[in-house]
Amino acid sequence: MSEIPSLQRAAVAALLRDDVLAMQGYTPGEQVNDCLKLNTNECAWPPSPAVQACLSQLSGESMRLYPDPMSHALREAAAALWGHPANGIVAGNGSDDCLTMIYRSVLRPGDRVAVPWPTYGLYDTLASIQGVEMLHVAWQDHWQLPIQEFIAAAPRLILVANPNNPSATMVSVQELVALAEALPQSVVVVDEAYIDYATADSSCIPALLTHSNMLVLRTCSKSYALAGARLGFCLGNPEIIAQFCKVKDSYNVNALTQAVGLAAIRDQDYHQQLVEDTLAAREDLMADVRKRGWTWPPSCANFLLCHVGPQAESIYRALKARGILLRWWDRPQLRECLRITVGTPEDQARLFQALDEVCA
Ligand SMILES: Cc1ncc(COP(=O)(O)O)c(C=O)c1O
Repeated sequence: MSEIPSLQRAAVAALLRDDVLAMQGYTPGEQVNDCLKLNTNECAWPPSPAVQACLSQLSGESMRLYPDPMSHALREAAAALWGHPANGIVAGNGSDDCLTMIYRSVLRPGDRVAVPWPTYGLYDTLASIQGVEMLHVAWQDHWQLPIQEFIAAAPRLILVANPNNPSATMVSVQELVALAEALPQSVVVVDEAYIDYATADSSCIPALLTHSNMLVLRTCSKSYALAGARLGFCLGNPEIIAQFCKVKDSYNVNALTQAVGLAAIRDQDYHQQLVEDTLAAREDLMADVRKRGWTWPPSCANFLLCHVGPQAESIYRALKARGILLRWWDRPQLRECLRITVGTPEDQARLFQALDEVCA
């Protein structure tokens, strides 16, 4: 095959937007085969057997045709599950895709986005792509929502991951509602990627009925064990959701994902079991981490943000050399921390043994 000559930076710059050239791309957690992956908060167990059954029944014919552009069956299933009207739900290629719809629809040139910081890094990348300013507002003591700072800044868009990534902590529905009420001209997005691991009644979905400037994101990547399928949802006022449908990619959820997503959502017994198994394994993880003298904020998710101390990086690297991936960030607030995703009891036994060796 003939080689494509490499382009000089100036030649690339002549063809592309300056802000794209200047931006940092999003750095996803490492995806390394043959490693024990406790670094990207996937579910430790496989999806429902109904998903496998569905995959083996899929016909070539269903691949020949375009999928349903509006994912009708999925939206109906999601509506029944979450008690929100189907026309107030749009499905996405992961909830990341729903975030893209929100940014495209909400943000005008010169607008500002704000997030409590630290949080999910993709919110920043999307702001760069959209060419808008991102404001990081530090979490207050012990991961409390900095409501007054948000109100003072009055950004066009606020995103709060609840539970938050990487802290696994939560803020109350009342605080989020108060924020939306204080800023009626702003859109408040509550990203509930991990909410199934939290206590009941901690979701903002019921508040959507009365607060049209609020949106909720849900994903099947975590508690439904479908990170590879890419399926998420945005819930909100039907009039707003109808506008998002205009800016989404036309066939944004592929036929395979629509089929397996439906199978997973319909198998609520299995889903419940996955959540219970995760919570039980989280107890074991906490017990081991406590033994090592590490601390963590109370976890409402399938991971712990452990404060390990100055040796965090070396432990991360030593585990990686042993084929075990945790998440470590070379950032001021997080440099002494390791984020550990809950694994199966077998995964965690391997982790604990490796930690014993590494920390000895
Ligand atoms: C807070 C948060 N939101 C969204 C996502 C991405 O979800 P999805 O896989 O549905 O795109 C993640 C993934 O780690 C996350 O931590």
